[in-house]
Amino acid sequence: MYPSGTLRIHELTDEERAVYSSLKPERLPEHVAIIMDGNGRWAGQRSLKRFLGHQQGAKSVQLVTETASRIGLPWLTLYAFSLENNLRRPRAEVSFLMRLLKSYLESNLQRMMDNNVRIRYIGRTHDLAPDVQEKMAWASEATARNTGTTLTLALNYGGRSELVDAFRRLTTEMKQKNIPPEHISEEDIHRHLYTAHIPDPDLLIRTSGEMRISNFLLWQIAYTEIYVTDRYWPDFRGLHLLQAIADFQRRERRYGGLGEECGEVEEDPERIRLAAG
Ligand code: FPP
Repeated sequence: MYPSGTLRIHELTDEERAVYSSLKPERLPEHVAIIMDGNGRWAGQRSLKRFLGHQQGAKSVQLVTETASRIGLPWLTLYAFSLENNLRRPRAEVSFLMRLLKSYLESNLQRMMDNNVRIRYIGRTHDLAPDVQEKMAWASEATARNTGTTLTLALNYGGRSELVDAFRRLTTEMKQKNIPPEHISEEDIHRHLYTAHIPDPDLLIRTSGEMRISNFLLWQIAYTEIYVTDRYWPDFRGLHLLQAIADFQRRERRYGGLGEECGEVEEDPERIRLAAG
């Protein structure tokens, strides 16, 4: 549920307020997930080193989170560092990203407190360096009692490895409790995901124009609306989050059904004749 009485719409920019006022309050998403992409290309376009793209990307993380908090979005999940990033990027870039994460958490903690943002993480975070894990724990503990937007950073995250981890935990539980395999339900799998405490995303945004899911929240996005923008992540702001939400509100969500405009299904007389032989 959207928290009541805590919205700080007056702090939106004029452009943001114009888009926000066109939104239907009863159809705001509960959970927005974002694949932040294009830091390197943003830097390349300006003949800058890639790390400057990441640095600028960290600013977008903060500004988008603050807009999310101002409109009272309960859940925002950002794909900040994938398992593949960890394995396939040059060591120097990986260690820069880890240093950037630490300094990001440290320098934005007060802003997170001022904006009532709670920080959490998903992913194989236990495999990150101890100093990074310490800073992460520090930020999540400091913000644990905040009641506004929960910002979940996916770090050392992969959707398939999340499922592997979930199945490992589920099979251990089944052995302990002597549960036969045919009793496994979707709910059992959901309970063992990193995101067990979070509703599935209503909206998934990807920046920089790529039409890929890149191993992000594979189970959770079964019925999620996808919005792709050509804009690179370092240029993405709260305004663009609101524009994505406006686009989302123009869609009709069907969850595999027929949708509201579809009325009664008329039988095709030809098909009936064929079926009757
Ligand atoms: C993709 O850009 C972006 C990432 C590696 C993940 C996002 C990381 C940040 C926004 C950095 C800061 C994050 C936090 C939480 C402090 P890319 O390098 O793949 O871009 P490219 O495809 O244009 O090369």
